[in-house]
Amino acid sequence: MIKNKNILITGGVGFIGSHLFEKLIENDNYVLIVDNFSSPYSENDTIFSDITKNYEIKKDFELIKGNLVDNSILMSIDYDIDIIFHLAAIPGVRYSIKNAGEVTNNNIISTVNIFENALKKGVKKVVFASSSSVYGNPVYTPVDEDHPKSPISPYAVSKLSCELYADYYFREFQLPVTSLRFYTVYGPRGRPDMAIRIFINNVMHDKTLNIFGDGEQIRDFTYISDIIDGLIQAAEKSKSSGEIFNLGCSNPVTLNQLIDKTYEIAKKPKNVRYLEKQKGDVKVTHSNIEKAKKMLQFEPKVNIDEGLRKTYDWQLTTLK
Ligand SMILES: NC(=O)c1ccc[n+]([C@@H]2O[C@H](COP(=O)([O-])OP(=O)(O)OC[C@H]3O[C@@H](n4cnc5c(N)ncnc54)[C@H](O)[C@@H]3O)[C@@H](O)[C@H]2O)c1
Repeated sequence: MIKNKNILITGGVGFIGSHLFEKLIENDNYVLIVDNFSSPYSENDTIFSDITKNYEIKKDFELIKGNLVDNSILMSIDYDIDIIFHLAAIPGVRYSIKNAGEVTNNNIISTVNIFENALKKGVKKVVFASSSSVYGNPVYTPVDEDHPKSPISPYAVSKLSCELYADYYFREFQLPVTSLRFYTVYGPRGRPDMAIRIFINNVMHDKTLNIFGDGEQIRDFTYISDIIDGLIQAAEKSKSSGEIFNLGCSNPVTLNQLIDKTYEIAKKPKNVRYLEKQKGDVKVTHSNIEKAKKMLQFEPKVNIDEGLRKTYDWQLTTLK
């Protein structure tokens, strides 16, 4: 486990960033967050105040409210940062199709600014949050890191471009950067636009579940604590620099199976409506995680049944 380091988490008030923040601060790290609160979910403010209530600003952590597209935010940081976890991005495939310019500008420029500053300040490790969406529709499964890349949304193109920048900075300047391709992350505090959160919400409130497509899409849902372990393992291993890893559960289910499981947990009758497939949605996500297992000792521990139950319980008690 990483201890007693100065760590920057970009996007640290978001879903994944806030879980990483909690884990790192519990282990006596000083954590600096840069986030512009651009996420459309107003709950991020409340969640952040809640998880920081037992810690002291300036002594244990610091929050800088700023946009990473503006390089002066990073220039003004005068700490010696050991590790950067770069999670800030506008996520969401569907949003990016309607807002391609905004997502491209935000995700790529902020990443280049991070890499440039990390290089100037001699940061010892940068971990970049990429996405399984870079593969597009797979031509074989499970998908390993060498699988062809055919992104089908501006969001996915932005992540692939950032990986290319990571590779460029590693090859040309030896910036110690690792890219991690996350597979659909879920769990407590999950983003309100994500399928599992929407499904549970509708089941809880006896609303009809709208499924885009026939529900036979296959998804490699990955529980939040496994992703946090993978992020930390990547940061700890110096040999992970210059590499890209899939981080998934590697045990995918169809949306129809996921829905059945959700109704089973809720002990309620199924109420589902099938709608037209949405643009940008891939048919299958299924990770091959052999490389991460071998090089990072990554081992997902939470299967979909346990993870879904934990997420359901959180939504039931927290969001009602
Ligand atoms: N959640 C998933 O399933 C998933 C899957 C693959 C990849 N990822 C990637 O993981 C990262 C975290 O995702 P998340 O689900 O926690 O999303 P999130 O929206 O909850 O968190 C992202 C945070 O980044 C901040 N941000 C965005 N642009 C910024 C900017 N220019 N300057 C400063 N802050 C900015 C937002 O305000 C937000 O708090 C993202 O890079 C995302 O693309 C997530």
